[in-house]
Amino acid sequence: MRNFDETTITAAVLERVGQAASPRARQIGQALVRHLHAFVQEIEPTHVEWTFAIEFLTRTGQMCSDTRQEFILLSDTLGVSMLVDAINHRLPGNTTETTVLGPFYVGSAPEHGSGDDISGGMTGEPLLVEGTVHDTAGRPIEGAIVDTWHTDGDGFYDVQGAAGLAGLAGRARLRTDTEGRFWFHSIVPAFYPIPDDGPVGDMLKVQGRHPYRPAHVHFMVGYPGYETLITHVFLASDRYLDSDVVFGVKDSLVRPLERQEPGVTARGNRVDRAMAALRYDFVLAEERQPAGSLECAASR
Ligand code: BEZ
Ligand code: FE
Repeated sequence: MRNFDETTITAAVLERVGQAASPRARQIGQALVRHLHAFVQEIEPTHVEWTFAIEFLTRTGQMCSDTRQEFILLSDTLGVSMLVDAINHRLPGNTTETTVLGPFYVGSAPEHGSGDDISGGMTGEPLLVEGTVHDTAGRPIEGAIVDTWHTDGDGFYDVQGAAGLAGLAGRARLRTDTEGRFWFHSIVPAFYPIPDDGPVGDMLKVQGRHPYRPAHVHFMVGYPGYETLITHVFLASDRYLDSDVVFGVKDSLVRPLERQEPGVTARGNRVDRAMAALRYDFVLAEERQPAGSLECAASR
């Protein structure tokens, strides 16, 4: 086959890509070609524009390192990460909703006991966090691992060089007690810009968008036999809730910062001074069988 023009080339490429042995690889390859060709037909790029697009993707790749994943940022800021997340979390009604993981998760967060201060020297307003973990039937999950991380009061994570830190800070791994409870002290996080000194930042500027995420505390909650929950709890007072640069906010994940006076909290924990308090009760869904994966398709 030869002599392709703009009316015949799409069908020719679809046919070629359709030779893949794996049905999933065929489906993905053909959908990619269909949508990519339709995109080019729609925008009719000049050569200069197409070269710019290639250079943008090249710079995106070149920006990636062990500590920076510019392609994930691109996926996040185009809403694709949240779309993939939604497709993969069609969970039972009362399960806690999910949101993006983000680039600041560290697998090796220090283990802490309930009631510990996890701020590790971060500066900001003192914060009490109280929560529980239950299953969808309302039974407490004892021994669930609660991984949490957040910024300091200026919007910097420890790994971004938040001021005056000796090591990891504002992050911890805790375990729930017999009633599914956990609690800790830290400091109130702030809104912050995603890393915007690369091609994704350039894209946001061209699109007239700000780079901010509303203040939040990240949680990854897991227990054998349950879907690992990756989510945030957002602070209700934040100005960026309706314009999160990565489209990650859901109403069910927003909580007010309450005022806790010294003494015993409504959940039975003792605090010795007045501080802000954030409370959230998580519900985990029972594990499902995976429906198939790209690795499977690629290896067929
Ligand atoms: C975060 O919340 O840490 C985050 C999520 C997506 C992109 C950048 C940061
Ligand atoms: Fe974050």
